[in-house]
Parts: sequence; C-alpha cells; structure tokens
Amino acid sequence: MESSDAPASVAAHSKDVYETWHEQHEVDATADSPWHRLVQQYLNMPRDVTGKRVLEIACGRGGFTCWLARQPHPPSGIVASDFAYAAVKRGQAYAREHKLDDISWEVGDIQALAHPDASFDTVISCETVEHVPDSRRAINELARVLKPGGRLFLTAPNYMGMLGLYRFYLRLRGRVFTEVGQPINHFLLLPRTRSWISRAGLRVEKVDAVGHYLPFPGRPPIELSFLNNPRVLMRWFALHALIVAQKL
Ligand SMILES: C[S@@+](CC[C@H](N)C(=O)[O-])C[C@H]1O[C@@H](n2cnc3c(N)ncnc32)[C@H](O)[C@@H]1O
Repeated sequence: MESSDAPASVAAHSKDVYETWHEQHEVDATADSPWHRLVQQYLNMPRDVTGKRVLEIACGRGGFTCWLARQPHPPSGIVASDFAYAAVKRGQAYAREHKLDDISWEVGDIQALAHPDASFDTVISCETVEHVPDSRRAINELARVLKPGGRLFLTAPNYMGMLGLYRFYLRLRGRVFTEVGQPINHFLLLPRTRSWISRAGLRVEKVDAVGHYLPFPGRPPIELSFLNNPRVLMRWFALHALIVAQKL
C-alpha cells in the first residue's frame, strides 16, 4: 500500500504491533547493526554532529541516538522520536540511567512530523520508510524539516538482490514476506528510493550498501560477506542501503 490515505485501522494495527514488539526487546546500546555502521561511517562528525540539532526519527529503543549523544563532541540537541510509546519509554529510561541528558524523547509519525520546516541540521532515519503506509510522504517530511545545507542519512532495504528474488518466490507460492513480524514491508528498490529523495529537493551525495544474503525457507539466511567487495560493483544489489543527501 503506497497511499497516504491508508485506512486508520492499518496505522492502528501497525502501532499495536510495534508497541508489543518493543516491550519484548532491550535497548540496542552497541548500535552496531550493518545499517548503523554505514551511518557511522559516513557521518562527518564536525559537519553533521558537533553542536548541531539532530533528529533521529523512528529511533526504536534509542541505541543509535544514545551512541550519538556519547560522542566526544556531541550535538547541541537531539530529538529521538518513534511511533511506539514503548520504544520511546525504553530509550528514555536507558538515557536517564546513563546520564545522557541532552536528548528530547517524543512519540511521532514519520509521515507527519510535528516540527516546523527547516528545524534540523541533520536528520537520521534507519530501516523505517519501508514499514510505513506511505514511504514517499515520509521522505518528503524528512526533507521538509531539514535546514538548507543540512544532511539526511536514510537507510532502507534494497530488494534488487537475492532477497528480492526470494520475495517473488514467496509471492508465487502464495506466501507473505515478513521481517520479524513487522506489519508493512514495502518492496523498496534503491534507484526508486534515491529518486524520491531527489524529488523531495535534496541532492544525493553518497549511496552505499552492504549485505548479501542467501535466503532459505524456514531458516535464517546465509550472509555471503565476500560479495561486499568490491563494494563499488555490488552495492546496487546489497540489502542494507544508505543514502546521504543534502538539502538545497
Ligand atoms: C525496523 S525498526 C528500526 C528501528 C531503528 N531505527 C533501528 O535502526 O534499529 C522500525 C521502527 O520504525 C518505527 N515506526 C514504525 N512506523 C512508524 C511511523 N509511522 N513513524 C515513526 N516510526 C515508526 C517502529 O516503532 C520501529 O521502531
């Protein structure tokens, strides 16, 4: 479903699922998932972080936000926002316990951010636009709240590789692809995500991706890490994609 007029019942169901999901998981304090490592690699500390106003939207239980707040020269302010109250509550409790006080925690919808235009220097969103009813509207919102010159760091899956073929196979067999029970899983392709970002008024500066997986029904996929190199050739087919883009 790509429409912004998704039935309220879809949004309500999605919220319920995420509330339960976050209750069952701890804070991912190491922030070392493949997509977080990509963002860490491309964030330019003085330019994007130090003394800047940063939004992490769909922060989950806040592991990456807390990593950011722990940097030697951190942002002047971080807003950490997620759709699920349970996620925000967990992140906030963890931050309080570890004396990471310069984070504002809030519940928010990536498709309708409650912030004025041009209010952040840096906007980060990981592995979320594929899980909302209207991915393109979400990207437009990320662009709207960025200040001119500010940068977006967006990670999203790219189904141009083996996992995309696997999704086709499942569809042919009449089965539904799910990602750890998340209710919405759009079939995103890196060129299309990139074009949505450009059309939202941002200039794409970097595209990178890692992660090639051989999926098997009923079993965890096998990672083919040797395909990560040379990255320049294989990144268009890797699963975990990062786009860095600047607001014009
Ligand atoms: C796959 S998780 C990614 C979490 C985190 N960004 C990470 O990289 O680990 C997707 C996240 O999106 C949040 N989410 C789902 N729909 C949302 C929406 N409409 N607005 C904001 N966050 C949403 C979920 O609660 C969940 O935390």
